[in-house]
Amino acid sequence: MEDALDEIDADKTAQYVLSLQKAGGEVMGDEYGEIDTRFIYIAAQCLSILGKLDKFNTDGAVDFIRRCQNFDGGFGLVPGAESHAGQIFTAIAALDILGRLDIVNVDLVSWWLCERQLPSGGLNGRPEKLPDVCYSWWVLSALSILNRLDWIDGSKLRQFILEAQDLETGGIADRKGDMPDVFHTIFGIAGLSLLGYENLKKINPTYCLTQRVVDKIRKN
Ligand code: FPP
Ligand code: ZN
Repeated sequence: MEDALDEIDADKTAQYVLSLQKAGGEVMGDEYGEIDTRFIYIAAQCLSILGKLDKFNTDGAVDFIRRCQNFDGGFGLVPGAESHAGQIFTAIAALDILGRLDIVNVDLVSWWLCERQLPSGGLNGRPEKLPDVCYSWWVLSALSILNRLDWIDGSKLRQFILEAQDLETGGIADRKGDMPDVFHTIFGIAGLSLLGYENLKKINPTYCLTQRVVDKIRKN
């Protein structure tokens, strides 16, 4: 984001990230060995930004993501785990980076994702849960990657996000009246950007970085 990628030792960083990929393609969060779809996304994103994806075991990683896919079209944390909007973002964004969106059942998962919108306009992360501003990112980014952004009511969601802003501090909370924090502030702004809110920089749904930065990475 600061146009300073050349400041880091890309080979060394890539070597560390690659050391976390297991023989089958799963990726660990650290040396202690927890594995799930979040870490595959993060590893693929790092290596893509560094231009070092060629050394990643893409087939193995895609196979793990495929095993996390459920009958409802969504993806869980690990094979057999319930579909969750956060994991759906990591799975779909990772597959996009790895060029394997073909394994996604696009209409089925998009249906599941748009079912996350509640009468308040806000989105939840799975059935029967409360709406929360951060899902304006996890759900919307996945729908945007799949070109199905128009499957939700954007103006109602925009209203929900704006109502969650604390006018005293300027921060955004998970929902109206709650305490703002930096996590919900970034995902609220990122969601508003995907919705085309005026005067915000365009965000890339796969990388959660501005489109300008992603265009620059792709050029290199
Ligand atoms: C709570 O879920 C979990 C979250 C609000 C975060 C979801 C996001 C991810 C899993 C993606 C993380 C991505 C990266 C790249 C690290 P919950 O269903 O227990 O709680 P809820 O009812 O509050 O939504
Ligand atoms: Zn949240």
